[in-house]
Amino acid sequence: MPDAKGELADVVLGFDDVTGYESDANQYFGCTTGRVCNRIANARFTLGDETYELHANDGPHSLHGGGASSLDKVIWRAMPLEVDNGQAVRFRYKSRDGEEGYPGNLAVAVTYTLTEANQLRIEYRATTDETTPVNLTNHAYFNLAGAGSETVLNHELQLHADKYTPVDGTLIPTGELADVSGTVLDFRAPHVIGARIAELGEGTGAGYDHNFVLNGKAGDIRPVAVLKDPASGRTLTVHTDQPGIQFYSGNFLKGQTGRDGKDYPHRSAVCLETQHFPDSIHHDSFPSILLQPDERYSHTCIYAFSAE
Ligand code: GAL
Repeated sequence: MPDAKGELADVVLGFDDVTGYESDANQYFGCTTGRVCNRIANARFTLGDETYELHANDGPHSLHGGGASSLDKVIWRAMPLEVDNGQAVRFRYKSRDGEEGYPGNLAVAVTYTLTEANQLRIEYRATTDETTPVNLTNHAYFNLAGAGSETVLNHELQLHADKYTPVDGTLIPTGELADVSGTVLDFRAPHVIGARIAELGEGTGAGYDHNFVLNGKAGDIRPVAVLKDPASGRTLTVHTDQPGIQFYSGNFLKGQTGRDGKDYPHRSAVCLETQHFPDSIHHDSFPSILLQPDERYSHTCIYAFSAE
């Protein structure tokens, strides 16, 4: 993406080729996560009389769809699309009944459009033949100074969220919707990410990794987050119709080597994952993630880039 002077930087983390994506260095870089993103407590859930067992890949919990055939690990079919205002590609995948333990045959399509106005528009659609939970997101990691920059703690962030979903020590929501006011999670006015992060601890895993309850009406596409690198002026504005966003400050990044031989240290990139709330399947008070056979799952996320 260009900065204010037109200087280009590659602002997403990634690898040179597919072997990088298949390796342990890949922590969901740029993928679609699902069938259910983030965590499902104890890797199981019940629908009616039936209990469904998932892969526990995060301690006792299921993370980002589970095991070897979660949506980030399977081969999708891709086809280019004709659009008026940019370039587009549609990815399709049919997840069969029982895959990763989930019920129902799920047909998923994700369309990416890069517009002339430097917006990356991601549109998710899914249908099922049995009631099943669905919560998809994109897991791109951004550093607006350029992927491989030492830190993202110098970026400013604004989140249009009055509340968040507190979690236990294993990152499972307690079910509460808590006010951000008076906490390090208050990003209603822009804050430098590093300014208060020490209060969340140090070391692997510590930092921002929270689901924010977005203001405004879920279902309406609205601006929800603004990320800015003050040095370059590059700015990313996120728009979505989802009820939540996971702000993750790259706390598990481990210095792995990515594209062009660059290293990706701890907290050197952020994810802004538009989504339904984590572990919604176990919380009746959260908006439902159940998709019924007569419905269509629909989710829009727009990553809009500019330079100031
Ligand atoms: C994030 C999640 C983190 C971590 C990361 C992958 O979406 O919130 O806790 O699991 O993915 O390393």
